[in-house]
Amino acid sequence: MTMTTCSAPGKIYFFGEHAVVYGEQATACAVDIRTRVTVRPDVEHIINSSIGITGLDMHKHPYVTRCIREMEQFIPDGVRIDISSELPVGSGLGSSAAVTIATLHALSIQFDTGHSLDDIAAMGHEIERTVQGAASPTDTFASTMGGVITIPGRKRLNLPECPIVIGYTGKFSSTSELVANVGELKKKYPQIIEPVISTIGRLSYEGEAAIEGQDYQALGHLMNINHGLLDTLGVGSPELSRLVWASRDAGAWGAKTTGAGGGGCMVAITDRPDEVAAAITSAGGQAIITNATPYGVKVE
Ligand code: MEV
Repeated sequence: MTMTTCSAPGKIYFFGEHAVVYGEQATACAVDIRTRVTVRPDVEHIINSSIGITGLDMHKHPYVTRCIREMEQFIPDGVRIDISSELPVGSGLGSSAAVTIATLHALSIQFDTGHSLDDIAAMGHEIERTVQGAASPTDTFASTMGGVITIPGRKRLNLPECPIVIGYTGKFSSTSELVANVGELKKKYPQIIEPVISTIGRLSYEGEAAIEGQDYQALGHLMNINHGLLDTLGVGSPELSRLVWASRDAGAWGAKTTGAGGGGCMVAITDRPDEVAAAITSAGGQAIITNATPYGVKVE
């Protein structure tokens, strides 16, 4: 085989970001916005992305560098890796997980390493943990397996058939800082913040029936409640609130921050995707109309 191309999806959270860090249940949904990685044998290691062309480089390409190191025993000389992504970096849509999972899978196929998808998901999670310091398995698992899944239980739920609109604030947010801030708040006001975190976990359980029954009004209502609780945890921002309210005013069933917050993205579910996308754009965001995808990492 001269080369292998794989793609892996990003994801949104219907429920449970931040709470999942404390062991609560979260519900994530892979979306059809993908990162593509092409792997070909070469005489040395080359990594080519929108960031630039490097060799192994823990500063510029930390995730892909780790992926090559993990698989190095199977690579005879070197490998060239070309990356193109539809996912905005640092947006909370799981761009680092998607590039990690697509790279691991492409390497495993190209060099016939015998890794299963479960192995790829576990290796990807470990790489995210090493690079970021802390990370739940949500992004790497959703990107590997696709579909709607609960974490930590890994239950697969029905795929929602309604359009999903994502609004990007254009602002980078640091997941580790936001996770640390929530930790501080919890330490300062445990009696108040712990119940908020467990209520977010409850929303994920309550949301299962809405997802299984394709009751998008109920799903949207629960997402709205989750958004309010994320604001309570201090991970909101004026931009996120503007996009969330613009979406609701344009008729979305529900809209919330997705991912770590602070900046990054919000997500809305709606039967009026064009109106919601236009409202997000007028409110200063970048809108992406997409849908849930059952396809995790795959060979292209
Ligand atoms: C970030 O996308 C989601 C958080 O829950 C952190 C994590 O799950 O690793 C804030």
